[in-house]
Amino acid sequence: MDLAKKIREIQDFPKEGINFKDITTLLKDPQAFKYMIDQLSQQLEGLNVDIVVGPESRGFLAGAPVAYKIGAGFVPVRKPGKLPAETIRHEYQLEYGTDALEIHRDAIQPGQKVAILDDLLATGGTVLATAKLIEELGGEVVSMNFLIELAFLKGRDLLTNYNIKALVTYDE
Ligand code: PRP
Ligand code: MG
Repeated sequence: MDLAKKIREIQDFPKEGINFKDITTLLKDPQAFKYMIDQLSQQLEGLNVDIVVGPESRGFLAGAPVAYKIGAGFVPVRKPGKLPAETIRHEYQLEYGTDALEIHRDAIQPGQKVAILDDLLATGGTVLATAKLIEELGGEVVSMNFLIELAFLKGRDLLTNYNIKALVTYDE
């Protein structure tokens, strides 16, 4: 199945010059959604993943079904102030200003093998911050898996040393 055909492109959203990749058209298609989760899960075969981490919010859509499918646990990484128990925080730079992500301090045990799942790799800032949180807790990031990679934004350059896979790649 060609998943790229199921992704809708919206010009100039959320601002001019951005060609937004809308995955809602893929997610509502039962065969395409199943295929996406099956393919992402297959990429993790043999890695003995204990925990799948998904960054809020679209990371939940890919991460939770994959965790279920491969028999791993699911851990959310969330924007500040959303998680109720004790958290750790990682701040990262945006084009303008900073953003931050949090994880529960007890979400990952030292030595656990962790895969990060998200819908999209763009600049890599989100997934790198997520990896830092996991590593601070002693987890080992064994894989980063995406539905979409915007290769022209060169997120991989920020993510040397990680094992990165995407199902659909855009070169422009
Ligand atoms: C989008 C997307 C990725 C991230 C990729 O999330 O879902 O998580 O951007 O961009 P990056 O590689 O440049 O960090 P967004 O922050 O828009 O939030 P959402 O998932 O809640 O929609
Ligand atoms: Mg996101």
